[in-house]
Amino acid sequence: MSTAKTRSPAEQSDVSIVRMTEHDLLEVVEIEEASGLSRWGWAAYYAELQGGNRDLLLVAKPVHVGGNAPHHIVGYIVARETAGELHINNVAVRDQYRRRGYGAMLLGRVLDEARRRGATAAFLEVRSGNSTAQALYKKCGFRAIATRPNYYTDPREDAVVMSLDLRSS
Ligand SMILES: CC(C)(COP(=O)(O)OP(=O)(O)OC[C@H]1O[C@@H](n2cnc3c(N)ncnc32)[C@H](O)[C@@H]1OP(=O)(O)O)[C@@H](O)C(=O)NCCC(=O)NCCS
Repeated sequence: MSTAKTRSPAEQSDVSIVRMTEHDLLEVVEIEEASGLSRWGWAAYYAELQGGNRDLLLVAKPVHVGGNAPHHIVGYIVARETAGELHINNVAVRDQYRRRGYGAMLLGRVLDEARRRGATAAFLEVRSGNSTAQALYKKCGFRAIATRPNYYTDPREDAVVMSLDLRSS
C-alpha cells in the first residue's frame, strides 16, 4: 500500500511570497481597485517602498510564470511597524485566486517578518461587514478587541479592531 507524503501549504503552493518592488505597483493598484479597499494609489505605495518598512510590503507571485501569463502577482500585503507594534494596512488577493491559502500565506509571512524585527503585537482595522477578512484574521490568531464607530467612509461603516500577541503566537 502506498502512502501519500503530507506537505505543508507553503511546500505545495504554486506561488512564492517575495518583497514588493516598484515594478509590481501597477498590478498592486489594479488588485487594490478591484478588491474595494480604501484607496492608497500608486504614489502612496511607492512612498512606502522608499521607507524603513519596505520589508513589510510583500506580493504573492506564481512560481511558473510564462511569457503570456495574465498575472505576475496574485495578491499583496502592506504593513508598517512602529515601536514594536505591527499594523496591517492592506491585504488583497485577486478574485479568481481566492480560497487557495494565499491570503493566509501573505499574512503569515508578514507576521514572521515582524517577529524577526522584534515586534511584540500586531493590530488592524477591518470593516465590520467584511466577514471574509475577519475569518482570515481569526484563522491566523487575531481576536477582536474594540470597535471604532463610523471609522470608514464611502460607505460609512464601523471598524472592528483586531490584535494578535506576537510573543505567544
Ligand atoms: C480577505 C482575502 C485577502 C482572503 O484571501 P484568500 O487568499 O481568499 O484567503 P485564504 O484562502 O488564505 O483563506 C484563509 C482563511 O480565511 C477564511 N476565509 C477566506 N475566504 C473566506 C470566505 N469567502 N468565507 C469564509 N471564510 C473565508 C477561512 O478561514 C480560510 O481558511 P480555510 O480556507 O481553511 O477555511 C480576500 O478575500 C480578499 O482579497 N478580499 C478583498 C480585500 C479585503 O477585504 N481585504 C481585507 C481588508 S481589511
